[in-house]
Order: sequence, then C-alpha cells, then structure tokens
Amino acid sequence: MGGIPLTDPRDTAAVMCGIGHWLPPQVVTNADLSSRLDTSEEWIRSRTGIASRHVAGPGTATSDLAVEAGARALKSAGSSDVQALVLATTTPDRPCPATAPEVASRLGLTGIAAFDVSAVCTGFLYGLATAAGFIATGLADRVLLIAAETFTTLLDPEDRATVPIFGDGAGAMVLRRGSASEPGAIGRVVLGSDGEHSDLIAVEAGGSRQRSAGRPAAEEQTYFQMQGRKVFRHAVERMSAAAITATEAAGWRMDEVDRLVAHQANARITAAVASELGLPADRRAQNIEQVGNTAGASVPILLAQAAADGSLAPGHRVLLTAFGGGLTWGAATVLWPGLELFDH
Ligand code: COA
Repeated sequence: MGGIPLTDPRDTAAVMCGIGHWLPPQVVTNADLSSRLDTSEEWIRSRTGIASRHVAGPGTATSDLAVEAGARALKSAGSSDVQALVLATTTPDRPCPATAPEVASRLGLTGIAAFDVSAVCTGFLYGLATAAGFIATGLADRVLLIAAETFTTLLDPEDRATVPIFGDGAGAMVLRRGSASEPGAIGRVVLGSDGEHSDLIAVEAGGSRQRSAGRPAAEEQTYFQMQGRKVFRHAVERMSAAAITATEAAGWRMDEVDRLVAHQANARITAAVASELGLPADRRAQNIEQVGNTAGASVPILLAQAAADGSLAPGHRVLLTAFGGGLTWGAATVLWPGLELFDH
C-alpha cells in the first residue's frame, strides 16, 4: 500500500504514439522561380536538390499550419488527452505573445501548458528534449509537440540566395510516458549551440537589439540573411558529430542504423552527413525535392511522410539529426513504432 514505485524510474522514457504533418496547398516550382529571379531550374536542382516547395501564401500564418499538423498527430495518437503543447517555431504569428497558447485553444486544449521553443532549424529536436523532460519530471504524462514554420514570410522575395531554398509546413508528434525498452521510446536527445556564429543565419530587425537602437530598421534588416557556404560546413560537421553521440548513447553501432532522418537543408548536406557516418544512400530518408527546407518543421514532416510511404517501418532504428541558426544542433534516436497515420 506504500508509495514505492514498482517501475524503475531509469526505465521511464518519452514514447512517440502519434504523428502528423501538413503542407499548405500552394506549390512553387523551380520554373516559377526562374521566371522571376536571376536563377535557373538547373542551378537550384543541382546545388540544393530542391524541385518545388509549398508556400503558405497570403493571409496564412504559422498557427494555421500548426493546428492542421497537431490535429492529425492527436488523431494518430487516438486521444487528445495531453497536458502540454510545445511549439517549435522561428516564425511565430506575432513577436508577442507566443503562438502555442492560441494553437492549443484552436485544438480544443485551452488550459494546458503551452509555449514556444525557438531554435531555428533545430527547433524540433529542442522541442523533443523539452517534451521528454516534461514527461521525465512528471510535469506531464502526454505532450503534443508541433514544429511549424512559415519561413517564406521572412524572405526578401528578390533574393535568389534564399528564396529557392525555403518552403513552409508543419509536423507534429504526440509523446506519452512509457518504457525505454518499448518501440517509439526516444533515446537521449543530444543538443548543442555556438553563439559565436550567431550572425551566419539571422533576421537583424524586429528584436530588442534593433528596436533599442532608436531608429527604424533598414529594409534589408527585416529579411532573413544567411552565409550559405559557411553554414554548409558547420551543418555537416555538427550534424555528423551529434548523430554519432546519439547513436552511441543508444548503444547502436552505426551500421545498425536503418534510416537517417536529417534536417532537409540541402541534399548535398544530407549526402555529406551520411557519407561522414558511413551510411549508404538507401538508408537516407529524403523529401527535400518536394518540400525544400522547412526549417524547424523539416524533421517531423519527413518522419510523417516516410512513415506514410513505407520508407520508415516498425522496428527500424531511426537516427534524427538537425542543425540551424544560433548556431544550434541536435540528434536523437528512436526505434520506429507501429502508428496509425491520418495524413492521406
Ligand atoms: N541561382 C544562380 N546562382 C546562384 C544562386 C541562385 N539561386 N544563388 C547563388 N548563386 C551563385 C552565387 O552568386 C555564386 O556566384 P559566384 O561564384 O559568381 O560568386 C555561386 O552561385 C556560388 O554561390 P555559393 O553561395 O557559394 O553556392 P553554394 O554552392 O554554397 O550553394 C547554398 C548555396 C545556399 C545552396 C548552399 O551554400 C547551402 O545550402 N548552404 C546551407 C544552407 C542551409 O543549410 N541553410 C539553413 C540552415 S539550416
């Protein structure tokens, strides 16, 4: 009758039990872009691996995508019983307040803990660690994690260096308290950052640094800027190193990894990471050709799509890794579970 737990707390883990994604219907092809920018279909395809991307379009905000993906993940989990909503986004509807409470209310979840996490393209993995932490500490038994981005709203429409790369979308996952040994259990989430390079990926205007300067922002400061070539090098290095640490923490040999699900920044980056890890091309899940770089939403969108098309199957050892502005990076492992999918 005492309060002694019968389970070993070290065996407790966050277990994924639902997944979903949403892409806005409007598609922009490389041909569309090359008709209005100083670029070519061939340049975009060969330098990035991207053929088309989905864009949110006029009047659509991040919360709109988040609600669609979140609803599908809750349906996949078979229950809307969650005690927290974590929203990973770099493109909140407004600078203040956070977007998560509104998303929670629109999903019929008014009253639960709801907040945003900001880690740019690593947002999903930072959100995953946060959700797993809520479960580990008993703050919640079940958490809805959504990563949603409307990155195209940050871009200078005339900038050929960024417009071809990014697309919009959202992915979501429900996590529940479970055992570290069951399918779906999230392994150790490895996270890191290096603020010395915070200028490599940035929007200069709109925050306290620019607003406290006492003068209006120049137009270019309001847009997303990236030093592509430097970012490329850091991305390969950091994603590979984090992936190795996460794999070792799971007790897997690298050749036991069935699928690498890496942030879809550039097909050449993913190929370089796979090559660093010694993973052949057929173990690399990929959707960048159709969705582009959807920033923080990229990993869960890819998970949901790969589960739907069968390239992720129950029992697969899956290695997740991501990299983004900050700089930030992360990796995690999951033994893929059987899930009900409602995306199609
Ligand atoms: N069309 C045609 N030419 C273009 C172009 C475009 N859309 N964008 C750039 N170029 C040109 C450049 O002006 C440059 O010309 P130059 O040699 O005459 O100066 C040339 O192509 C090479 O530019 P560079 O930026 O060095 O190309 P790259 O091979 O590094 O590819 C990126 C550019 C952005 C695709 C690549 O660096 C990248 O993917 N970086 C990482 C992006 C990323 O991951 N961002 C998100 C962080 S998670």
